[in-house]
Parts: sequence; C-alpha cells; structure tokens
Amino acid sequence: MRFRFYLMTAMSCYYVLLSAQQKACYDIIPQPLNVEEKTGEAFVINAQTSVYCDREGLSREADFLVEYIKHKTGIQLVKSARKEKSNQIQLSVKNEKNANMIWPQQSGEDYKLTVDKNIICIEGNGSAGVFYGIQSLRKSLPVAKGTVELSPVVITDSPRFVYRGMHLDCSRHFFDIEFVKEYIDILAFHNMNVFHWHLSDDQGWRIEMKRHPRLTEIGAWRSGTVLGHNSDLDDSIPHGGFYTQEQAREIVRYAQERHITVMPEIDLPGHTKAVLASYPELGCTGGPYEVGHRWGVYADVLCMGNPKCYDLVRDIIDELTDIFPSKYIHIGGDETPTVRWEACPKCNAIDRKGMTYQGYFTHQIVPYLEAKGRRAIGWDEILYTGADTNTAIMSWRGSDPGAEAAAKGHDVVMAPTSHCYFDYQQSKDVIHEPDNSDGGYIPVDKVYSLDPVPAKVKDETRKHILGVQANAWAEHLRTTGMVEYMTLPRMAALSEVAWTQPEKKDYKDFVRRVTRLTEDYESYHWQYAKHLWPERRNNQALE
Ligand code: ACM
Ligand code: ZN
Repeated sequence: MRFRFYLMTAMSCYYVLLSAQQKACYDIIPQPLNVEEKTGEAFVINAQTSVYCDREGLSREADFLVEYIKHKTGIQLVKSARKEKSNQIQLSVKNEKNANMIWPQQSGEDYKLTVDKNIICIEGNGSAGVFYGIQSLRKSLPVAKGTVELSPVVITDSPRFVYRGMHLDCSRHFFDIEFVKEYIDILAFHNMNVFHWHLSDDQGWRIEMKRHPRLTEIGAWRSGTVLGHNSDLDDSIPHGGFYTQEQAREIVRYAQERHITVMPEIDLPGHTKAVLASYPELGCTGGPYEVGHRWGVYADVLCMGNPKCYDLVRDIIDELTDIFPSKYIHIGGDETPTVRWEACPKCNAIDRKGMTYQGYFTHQIVPYLEAKGRRAIGWDEILYTGADTNTAIMSWRGSDPGAEAAAKGHDVVMAPTSHCYFDYQQSKDVIHEPDNSDGGYIPVDKVYSLDPVPAKVKDETRKHILGVQANAWAEHLRTTGMVEYMTLPRMAALSEVAWTQPEKKDYKDFVRRVTRLTEDYESYHWQYAKHLWPERRNNQALE
C-alpha cells in the first residue's frame, strides 16, 4: 500500500515536471537593439505548435528551429505548408536586402521577432536575419522539458558590425572536422558570422593541396612538441593531421547553412617551417628543415628570390579559392624576420623597386588573388611593409595599427591582443587553471569593455572598421575541451561587442544574462570557464 502511494506521488511529480509551464525570458545575448515587452496573453509552445516558412529558401532555418526547440523542451514541432491563424511560428523574409554570404557586403541580417498569443512571427530582411531571429527565440527559451509560455514581445534587431569573427588555430594542434563543426555551432549560437580558419603555421600544414602533396605528406606531421612554454624538453609524441579538400568543402557548406563565412588563412611568407620541411628548396639556405616543435617565431621563411615560391603560392591560391567562396582570403604576413633574406644572394638579386622584401612578396600575390575576384586580408605587419589600400588589415598588435590603416583607407578588422586573444588566461589564479594559456591576462570584463572603433578613428573613416574578431591560438590548447574553456564565456562578451550598439551595453546586466546563457552551454556539454561563478568551481582541496 505504502509502495503504491509512493509510486503514485512519484508519478504525479514526474507528470508535473513533464507538463510544468515554463516561461521564456528575453534576457538574451547579444542584447538586441530593441526589446518591447507587451501586455496580453502568452503564446504557448506545445506539441501542436507548427512551423511555417513563406519560401523554400527558409526550409533549413525552419529545420534549425525545430531542432533547437526539441533540444531545449523535448517538444517535436511539425513543419506545416499552411499558414495558420494560431499556434504557429511563422518565418518570412520582408524588405529583402542582398542576403548573400559575401562579406563585407553582407546584409540581410536584421530581423523582427513578434510574439502574441496566436503567432510567433520572425521576419528577416534576408534568410540570415531569420536565422538570427531564431537564435534569439532559441536563447529566450528555458532549458526545461515541457511546454513553454512566451509573453508578448516585439524585438527589432540589427548587428552593429558586418564582420563578427572567431579564429581557430588548427596548426599548432589539429582538431578534427567533428570539432570544427561544433565550434561553428558555438559561433552561430553567439551570432558570429566569420570563421577564420588558421590552416598553416610552422608546426603543421593542415589542408590538402592536390598540386603539392608533400605539404600534407610531410608538412602536416611533427615528430614531437616542446613541453610547456619552450622548455628544453620535447614530448617526442608525433602530432599531426590535415583536412582533405572534400572535408574542407563540407565545413564550408556546414558554416554556410549557419550564415557563417569560412575565411581560410595560409600564413605567408613567415611561419612557414612546415612548407620548408616539405619543399626545402624554397628556403634561402636550402635546409634541412623540420616541421616546428617549438613555439614562437622561426628565422627560416620563404625565399623571396626563388620564383618557385611564387609558383607554389599561386597554386595554393588556385586551390584555396576553388574550395572557399569567401571574398577575403587571409594571407598571414605576421612575424616575418628578414635575416635570411638579407643574407641570401637570390633574395639580394631581385629588383624590389624600392619595396621591402615582404612588400615585394605581397605585391606578387595580391594581384593574383584579385584577378580571381577576391581580396586579401593580412595581419597588421603588412600595413608597414607596403600593402595597398585594397588589402584589408587585421589589427592584432593593439588597435592603433587598425586606426592607422583605416585612416589610410584600408578596411580593418580589430583583433587586438589587449582584448581579443582568447589564448590568454582568464584569471590571475593560474595555479588553479589548466596549463593552457599564453601568458597574458584577459578576463571577461576586459573583452566586454572593447570598443572596436577607437576614439582616434575619425568619423569619415569609421566605415573602414568592418568589425571585430577574437583569436584562439592553440599552442597550449591540446584538447577540444580546452578550446571551449578558453573561448567561453568570453565569446559571449565578444558577441555583444560585435553585435550590440555601445549605448545598450551594460556589463552588470551582461553578467546576469550570461549566467542564464550557461544553461545552454551545459545542455550542449560545452566546457566554459567559471571565474564569474566561483561557487561553481571545483576548487575543493582533496583530503
Ligand atoms: C599573431 O598573433 N601573430 C597574429
Ligand atoms: Zn632567399
């Protein structure tokens, strides 16, 4: 008898849990432009709610919505071909703007999300806008099984910047395509629209090149990795891997569906030890070279006086542009020592026409890229070695190079080490941190405080600041969990820097909203740093 009583109580609790009317909350990240809460009855998402889209082109968006709602509530919505008068979520495109994916002309990202008791309506001025409206709806829902009440609201929203980027270094440590897809999911969740894929560096070449197979046969593998921060010890554990062209195309498609442009980077002419290990004749000394084990900057770089280097780079551009539709291709350009060039007879023999060695190199490859209808972007060193204004600048050594570049007429992406290097530690309490940081200190509030348009940028050149990006350099990120830990929740702060108008930003309020956002992180088992929530940290001493 008692057993039956307990069983019935447990069953009814279970039933209440299952059927509990959860409530949506519009305290989301990034903070939208305008959230107008209305009075009136709530819309209820339940098992009878349907999803309608006004065109075939929104079918993938509708699928995402169904998937997200199933994940959060357990409710399986049905897609309907009929427009209903009630209990329906309707997706449509209104006042269509050029909604193609070619950044920086990207537009069509604005949306309006209206909830009343009968209908939830998401109107975008492109499918991207519909996608972002869906992201806002998704983030408004609680992570809880059962039906959800949504109080009436009108949200109108538009991003501050056309370029909202996250980088991932897949050279220093290789991450498989399953993780790259998960990373893209994380980007989409934070309204990011550019995935900067760092595909080559001294420690590994990561993309199949059909015309130059040794780049992956040799260049994708190193025989060991230095321990710690360039100690004298090597782990002697082989590390490597690469993406086939087919896999890279799969990533492009995956990202496109999520309105993210994949911008590949091949870092040239420095950071090329993996290239030199594959083709030693391309270096000034002829080698021998090995794929890098140590971090930092190597003196060995491509020989500027060897025509074969330019042939190789042109071939790489041919294959890259075939795989990646991104308007911009990142050509690297950072941290390139000149010592080998200065001592090399072949380099000395070229007529640089007054240009620096690196400027000469940039002028050889950029026109080739442009003849294919693409544009080049490079790290800010290329500004000082002689890039033309048609080349965009990624400002990493602070925001000043970006401000200077904008004043000269270059398009600019701000990614300053001061705020945007997510390989830097998030806490001064390093003893309790995983051994994965690059030394600097960038807590969440520091990321949040960034204005990508520095005061010194004059009004007439502001249009050149395309947006902002954070970098996840992976020298010390050996696992995918470490990548997640270093990027979350800082990516949430970045997403507000990139999306939200400055006058709407409020750090205290952000902390309240990001606390709620972590329920989503946990539901997806994304690792995240818990410094904002000391009570969640696992810092109990072992007995
Ligand atoms: C860089 O961090 N070397 C661009
Ligand atoms: Zn040389």
